[in-house]
Amino acid sequence: MAVYDDISDAYDLVYTDVDQKLPFVSELLQKHDRQQILELGSGSGLFTIPLKQKGFNIEGLEISPEMMAVTQKKFPDLVLHQGDMRNFSLEKQFDAILALSSALTLLSSHDEIARCLQQTFQHLVPGGHFLVELPNHPIEIANSDGTQEVHCNDDRSIIVVIQSEKTEGRWRESWHIFRASAEGFQHKEVLCDEFLYSPDRLEAQLLETGFKIVDRYGDLLGSVFDEGTSWRRVLVCQKP
Ligand SMILES: C[S@@+](CC[C@H](N)C(=O)[O-])C[C@H]1O[C@@H](n2cnc3c(N)ncnc32)[C@H](O)[C@@H]1O
Repeated sequence: MAVYDDISDAYDLVYTDVDQKLPFVSELLQKHDRQQILELGSGSGLFTIPLKQKGFNIEGLEISPEMMAVTQKKFPDLVLHQGDMRNFSLEKQFDAILALSSALTLLSSHDEIARCLQQTFQHLVPGGHFLVELPNHPIEIANSDGTQEVHCNDDRSIIVVIQSEKTEGRWRESWHIFRASAEGFQHKEVLCDEFLYSPDRLEAQLLETGFKIVDRYGDLLGSVFDEGTSWRRVLVCQKP
């Protein structure tokens, strides 16, 4: 079972800042007249759905059936492909491919990232863009190792506590999901681990795959990237 199956109904309670990030993504796509889009690890559709509503012809690739079901419930007409970003063949090419909200760090090694980059390259038209948004782990870890955060829905029937810690070479979020219903209380713990990728190695892999790195940003608000302070690392890449 995919890890995200277990957190699918709590995911949208945690990621609540997509509205602030959407303008950067949609303006970038518009600026380059990108219309046919694929999002890798499209999750619950937090980006895919509003981009579709803005008129982009966007499709999602997602490994978790439960995350796909959440998206389909919110927006039944979206084209979603169940598949693995390390090995997919959609037999078409896109103007742009997105890997947002740390999706690449859910792969467990640079070899797996290399496989994903190759598949991505093959699914892009010449001139096509690849937008990657990742954590800048040293800054995120320095600021939030050993911390916890709480999220809940309006009637507090679902409460999510996320504990973040660096462990065994991974950046781990332990999601504790508490539910209250007529059947009583439930609690489950789900471990969501991020691979601590090497930024230099990732950039080298992008170049080896054939991509050009055309821009770097510090977040999806378009901030300037600063290795020593930025929490996020956004790479705008292009297939020549
Ligand atoms: C952190 S979520 C991001 C969801 C969405 N992109 C967003 O920004 O809200 C990462 C998503 O990638 C999916 N995922 C993880 N590994 C995957 C893989 N190998 N292939 C396709 N999807 C994968 C997870 O199931 C999850 O829904």
